[in-house]
Amino acid sequence: MDDVPSPVPLAGRIGKLRSNAIRDLLAVTQRPDVISMAGGLPAADAFPVDEIRAVTERLLRDDPTSLLQYSTTEGFPELRVWIAEQAAASRGREVSPDQVLVTHGSQQALDLVSKVFVEPGVEVAIDEPGYIGAIQALQVFEPTLLPVPVDEHGLVVSALADLLASGHRPRLVYTVVNFQNPTGATLALERRMHLAELAEQYGFVVIEDDPYWALRFAGEQLPSIATWSDNVISLGTFSKLVVPGLRVGYAVAPTWAREHLAKVKQGADLHTSSWGQVLLTALVAERGWLSDHIEALVRVYGTRARALEDSLAARVGERFAFDKPDGGMFLWGRLTDGQSAVDLLPRAVERGVAFVPGEPFYSGPPDRSTLRLSFATATPDELDEGVRRFAAALTP
Ligand SMILES: Cc1ncc(COP(=O)(O)O)c(C=O)c1O
Repeated sequence: MDDVPSPVPLAGRIGKLRSNAIRDLLAVTQRPDVISMAGGLPAADAFPVDEIRAVTERLLRDDPTSLLQYSTTEGFPELRVWIAEQAAASRGREVSPDQVLVTHGSQQALDLVSKVFVEPGVEVAIDEPGYIGAIQALQVFEPTLLPVPVDEHGLVVSALADLLASGHRPRLVYTVVNFQNPTGATLALERRMHLAELAEQYGFVVIEDDPYWALRFAGEQLPSIATWSDNVISLGTFSKLVVPGLRVGYAVAPTWAREHLAKVKQGADLHTSSWGQVLLTALVAERGWLSDHIEALVRVYGTRARALEDSLAARVGERFAFDKPDGGMFLWGRLTDGQSAVDLLPRAVERGVAFVPGEPFYSGPPDRSTLRLSFATATPDELDEGVRRFAAALTP
């Protein structure tokens, strides 16, 4: 999308920002006849609408003030206790609710972390390819991004070690640890340990972004990087676990960093929506509700992922190489015949299917053969039809 000319000068950093190519693209692909595997939205047919309605009605009747009143910057105390318990379980050690800051989605946590740590020229290492929203949040503060490759086992920590050994000194290392956006890869156990070791040795902070952990349909949950180091800020969210529209996420940080994050949050929005926080606290307090809900989500996503993989294998074969994800919402792959995914997209949309080319996920030179398919929102039959159209578009 072209920028509209500004009648008043803008801050210099704004001119350097690129718009989120996926948002621009989604606008084009929302025609009803297009099967979209492009978006990053969770499955709306799995939203717990009835439970949300029942709990909201009960809270409005019994405790409207908590829902409707201003709240504290750090977040609703009972929700922070619940978040600290979850973090303690994934770290195998105690976490204090004082370490928790409830944020307006984990996207806000990315903005706050950037505000606290990044200034022009500060080095920040980041997944390559990486989450576009993180690149956008960081770039406002003009860092020098150090792209570190991601393979089928997540961030290649040995490549980060090489950068450190050659004199680079990132202040932050950002990575999505489970079912990464965009590649679907999960950071292997030994790499988590190595990354923690490097954080201790070189004194950087790892931003462990983990919105998809609950959506695991194969393999075992792995411990948080914060199991082995205090130099970790873990980000989480209710967006993929319950619903994204409430905009409730969180950061679990060492207390010294949490203080600064809360300070900048005050200036940003005073606090996260009371309504969303109180509602989620009530939902997760219902005995067994969350684990049943996660089980149902995993069934939906697991079935859709396998359907997409099977259709790709049957209809596209070796023309598209991909790794099978163990969870999350995305499948990432590469066109093996030298085609560019950016060039393929208009032909695919013409035939009624959309995907996201890999290019915007790169902060360095992109691999133009890559693309991301979401299996979250389409049914198995729609995915199969989408793959049929994709295969047809592939044949010029
Ligand atoms: C890796 C990653 N981090 C953070 C977010 C932001 O999520 P939210 O702000 O809804 O918590 C997303 C959303 O898609 C994501 O994929």
